[in-house]
Amino acid sequence: MTLDLARWFGFGPPQIQAREAYALWSETYLPRPHNPLMQAEQGVVVPMLEAASPRRALDAGTGTGRYLPLLASAGARLAIGLDASMPMLKRQADGAPRVCGDARRMPFRDASFDLVCASLMVGDLEDVGSWIREATRILRRGGHLVYSDFHPSWTSKRWRRTFRTAAGRLFELAYFPHTIEEHLMLLERASLAVQAIREPRLSGGSAPVVVVFHAIKSR
Ligand SMILES: C[S@@+](CC[C@H](N)C(=O)[O-])C[C@H]1O[C@@H](n2cnc3c(N)ncnc32)[C@H](O)[C@@H]1O
Repeated sequence: MTLDLARWFGFGPPQIQAREAYALWSETYLPRPHNPLMQAEQGVVVPMLEAASPRRALDAGTGTGRYLPLLASAGARLAIGLDASMPMLKRQADGAPRVCGDARRMPFRDASFDLVCASLMVGDLEDVGSWIREATRILRRGGHLVYSDFHPSWTSKRWRRTFRTAAGRLFELAYFPHTIEEHLMLLERASLAVQAIREPRLSGGSAPVVVVFHAIKSR
């Protein structure tokens, strides 16, 4: 057993809840990859978006809108960003339509989109199934779901998610770990056909840092 001595003795950064964390993090959260994990993730996700070439796309948990220009480059005429955090949405610069809301109950009609994506959002959800069911509802038949999550290796490596505010304070934002088995079971239950699972690593890294799923709504 490994003892987490920093936390044991109270040396770790303060842990705060998602709502407060994203309000603070929005000050420094750039709408482009700002760490190696995001670079690795984007390197895998972008070819999936380009291959899907959607006309109507939704980026759930869009944050400051990192994926909105990439969806436009992949051919989307309509690319909407949805996020639960208004401070994150307010930092979005590119003028794409944005909606403040919960990805588990989205204000869109059935079959409205050719593609729904979500990068690094589901770590904030204990119940990923409710998001997958909702994303499936708003996808047309044959539509694409592309999303990423923190890789299960985070649990074995005891990695933590931290960020710094503009004033330089370090905080920890906890996440809900999910196994690949859990994702696959939920995708199957939603009648989504898995096309690809990718597990990128950092260059020279021994463990995958992120897992990316691409699935298609089959009926
Ligand atoms: C780690 S950030 C990722 C932002 C962006 N997708 C990116 O990769 O740059 C996670 C985002 O998901 C949003 N989020 C978390 N839970 C959500 C929910 N239930 N509905 C909508 N957005 C949510 C947060 O507010 C935050 O902006």
